[in-house]
Amino acid sequence: MSHPVAEEPPAVHGDALNLVRAAIAEAPDPAAAGQRAVEALHDRFAHYDWVGIYWVDPSGTQLHLGPWVGPAATEHTVIPIGVGICGAAAASGRTEIVDDVDADPRYLACFTSTRSEIVVPILDGGEVVGEIDIDGTDLAAYDETDARFLEEVAALLAPLRPRSGS
Ligand code: SME
Repeated sequence: MSHPVAEEPPAVHGDALNLVRAAIAEAPDPAAAGQRAVEALHDRFAHYDWVGIYWVDPSGTQLHLGPWVGPAATEHTVIPIGVGICGAAAASGRTEIVDDVDADPRYLACFTSTRSEIVVPILDGGEVVGEIDIDGTDLAAYDETDARFLEEVAALLAPLRPRSGS
C-alpha cells in the first residue's frame, strides 16, 4: 500500500501501550482482560470508533468475535478465514489498512457509518490466533503508526486466546 513508513511512534502510543498493559494485568481473568483492553483502546483514541477482537476457532477455519466495544453490535460474529478484510488479514498474517471501505470489494459491511478500517493479526509463535479489528467513521483514519502500535498491542493479547476458541 502507499502508506509511508512510520517514524518513531509518538509518545502518546507508548502511554497507551502502558494503559493496555495495566488493563490486562489488573483483570481477574483472560476474558475480562480482553474486554478491558478493547475498552482502553476505544477510550484512548477518538478515531477507534469500534474496537473488537476476533479469535481463530479451534478448527482454524473461522474467526469468532470475542470482546468488543463500540456504538453497535455487528452481525458478523463468525467470519470464515479468507472472507472480508478480517478474513484476509487472518489468511495472510499481515496488517490490513483500508482507507475507503466502499472502494474495497472484500469489505463486509457492519455499520453504515464506517469509512475506513484496520485489522491487525494476533500472532503466537508465528501462527495467527486472532486479530484486532477497528472501524472508523473518517476516510483514511489509520496509518502505519496505528499499525505498529496495534501490532505491539496484539503481542500483549496473544496469551488471552480462549482455549475453547470462542
Ligand atoms: N468489516 C469487516 C467485518 C467485521 S466488522 O467491521 C466488525 C470485514 O470486512 O472483514
